[in-house]
Amino acid sequence: MHIISFVSGKGGSGKTTLTANVAVALARRGHSVVAIDLDPQNALGLHLGLEATEEGGLAREGIRRSAMFESPFGVHFIPFGRLTTEELPEFHAFLRDHPDWLAQSLAALPRSEFRFVLLDTPPGPTPYLRQALHAAHRVLVCGLADAASYATLPQMMALVEEYTHDRPQFLGAHPIINQMPVNGRLGHQVRSAVATEYGATLAPVSVHRDPRVAHALASEQPVVEYDPAAMASLDIEYLADWLIDLADL
Ligand SMILES: Nc1ncnc2c1ncn2[C@@H]1O[C@H](COP(=O)(O)OP(=O)(O)O)[C@@H](O)[C@H]1O
Ligand SMILES: [Mg+2]
Repeated sequence: MHIISFVSGKGGSGKTTLTANVAVALARRGHSVVAIDLDPQNALGLHLGLEATEEGGLAREGIRRSAMFESPFGVHFIPFGRLTTEELPEFHAFLRDHPDWLAQSLAALPRSEFRFVLLDTPPGPTPYLRQALHAAHRVLVCGLADAASYATLPQMMALVEEYTHDRPQFLGAHPIINQMPVNGRLGHQVRSAVATEYGATLAPVSVHRDPRVAHALASEQPVVEYDPAAMASLDIEYLADWLIDLADL
């Protein structure tokens, strides 16, 4: 079982889009995948063609079969679920008191059941980020090719280091650039600055900005399914191949 978490300092950097699409790309290659939404906004299901239900989900049921749905795109999925405004702070307090809750719950899954577990998180330093970093083998730190994302990257990388340095199972944090502009120099300037700073840990592919991503979401499909020939789909397929190679090492 290989656990990969998508994190970022800022919202809107593509964590949810990449989690859903990488999950489907891995499943298309024959791997068993469960995608887990650690964000109370419940957005991941939209990308996977599943509405969040009133009952069930991670927050009420934890990591178990009864909390799991089968997406029409061949991946298993655990939504965050719906908590009331009173319940949410209680759940946060529980997570703070049990920082290894997610890691332990995942460790209790039958080993052979899932080759990949993908974790989507809310932006910034939340109790969910800590849970995800205590569980993950690898982290993709998502950012846009802009100055704001670039400026928050060191903070996020430091946070990842803080939460993972004492875990020998942790294999690495990889910055990845999403919404790479198709034209112009800015994207390349940001990419080479990140490469200079973080070297070979930088993901070998950036995901291009592609209007097909929004079109896909509007029809509640991952873009790799909606338009496999779209530029963003090809980038995500490459990303999935790279993650498979790393998991096989
Ligand atoms: N490669 C891309 N090209 C174009 N639009 C994208 C791309 N990746 C994400 N988006 C759009 O950007 C917005 C934010 O993406 P999302 O995955 O929700 O980010 P996050 O989960 O980090 O907040 C969404 O509207 C999504 O459709
Ligand atoms: Mg999101």
